[in-house]
Amino acid sequence: MSIRKLTALVLALPLVFAAPSKRQTPAICSTLAPVAQDLLENLFGGECGDSAHGALRLIFHDAIGISPVVGGGGADGSIITFNETELAFEANDGLDDVLADLGPFFLKHQAVISSGDFVQLAGALSLAACPGAPKVQFVAGRPPPLAPSPNFLVPEPFNTTDQILERFASVGFAPPEIIALLSSHSIAGADTVDPTIPGTPFDTTPSVYDTNIFIDVLLKGTLFPGTSGNQGEVETAVNGTLRLQSDFELARDPRTACTWQEFATNQPLMASQFAPAVFKLSLLGQNINDLTDCSELIPQPPALKDVPEFPPGQFLSDIQDSCPTARFPDLPTQPGPPLDVAPIPQADSDDEDS
Ligand SMILES: *[C@@H]1O[C@H](CO)[C@@H](O)[C@H](O)[C@H]1NC(C)=O
Ligand SMILES: *[C@@H]1O[C@H](CO)[C@@H](O)[C@H](O)[C@H]1NC(C)=O
Ligand SMILES: *[C@@H]1O[C@H](CO)[C@@H](O)[C@H](O)[C@H]1NC(C)=O
Repeated sequence: MSIRKLTALVLALPLVFAAPSKRQTPAICSTLAPVAQDLLENLFGGECGDSAHGALRLIFHDAIGISPVVGGGGADGSIITFNETELAFEANDGLDDVLADLGPFFLKHQAVISSGDFVQLAGALSLAACPGAPKVQFVAGRPPPLAPSPNFLVPEPFNTTDQILERFASVGFAPPEIIALLSSHSIAGADTVDPTIPGTPFDTTPSVYDTNIFIDVLLKGTLFPGTSGNQGEVETAVNGTLRLQSDFELARDPRTACTWQEFATNQPLMASQFAPAVFKLSLLGQNINDLTDCSELIPQPPALKDVPEFPPGQFLSDIQDSCPTARFPDLPTQPGPPLDVAPIPQADSDDEDS
């Protein structure tokens, strides 16, 4: 073969690989497609509401259950399979409602999906109706969990920043990734931190994946939305929202405050950092080489044009400046009277026991 021919051959190779051959859907993804459709239609119902928030929360509570010291299987579905053990952990308070909501869907489909895949699939799909949320990758093939997670691995809102950073560091998460994960609090609320007011959102817009959580938590706290004296809760700036002590401290700690502040005015950054961080969470305790990419099952959430604003009646002077290297930028103030943010309507299963 002449040199010229060889060169032509070598040059042609990348073209062969780049040719637009339509990827065959892997069998496991086809098998899971009806499960995804059922969750989207009948669990979430096109809403970024209580069921979606619960499914997103469950990702974290399942996956973080792993430690290089005391063990645990990570993102293995143990929170479902060993629910009787793990729901008794204090840090999993309130997840009984989430499992009551999601559990029937797992039981219906358990012949075709492992509990570990179910938790991650439901979590990735939960963002589908949340404007501004990123599309999160989903991989399938997690084996059934072997044992419950050990207790005390899930951080609590009253844990210190040192404890929280150390817990995450032990499973490979750097401080900016922790703050990226916490952007989930943009579409979340608390049911049991103040048990007198279930469904109290963490920011003014719990069905939109916007930057309000990062703005609201930096404002001077002045009130409790319900009762005072709850462990893990500090005063909030907007009536009807609940502020976690851990969010308050991470927003002000020099190790995390600048990431927090950056996200406050950069929604695309917040979304783009969340997606890989939550995907990394979904791989804890798993070997990615044994899993199959089924991200094609996950819809792209609706777009959002985010305009960062202070809530009505609040200004830059109400911000507790915390990033040592950059001042918080001035923002417009949303017009109107101070807000009384409404509770998040609770999924049906919650009503039965309240
Ligand atoms: C919760 O655990 C019990 C027993 O451990 C099991 O029978 C039940 O199916 C579990 N719930 C779900 C939703 O998996
Ligand atoms: C959170 O605080 C409790 C009580 O001090 C402690 O037992 C637990 O280990 C802490 N959790 C983490 C993840 O550090
Ligand atoms: C907060 O909102 C609730 C419900 O709308 C209202 O009853 C309460 O007076 C408000 N509190 C403050 C301090 O504005």
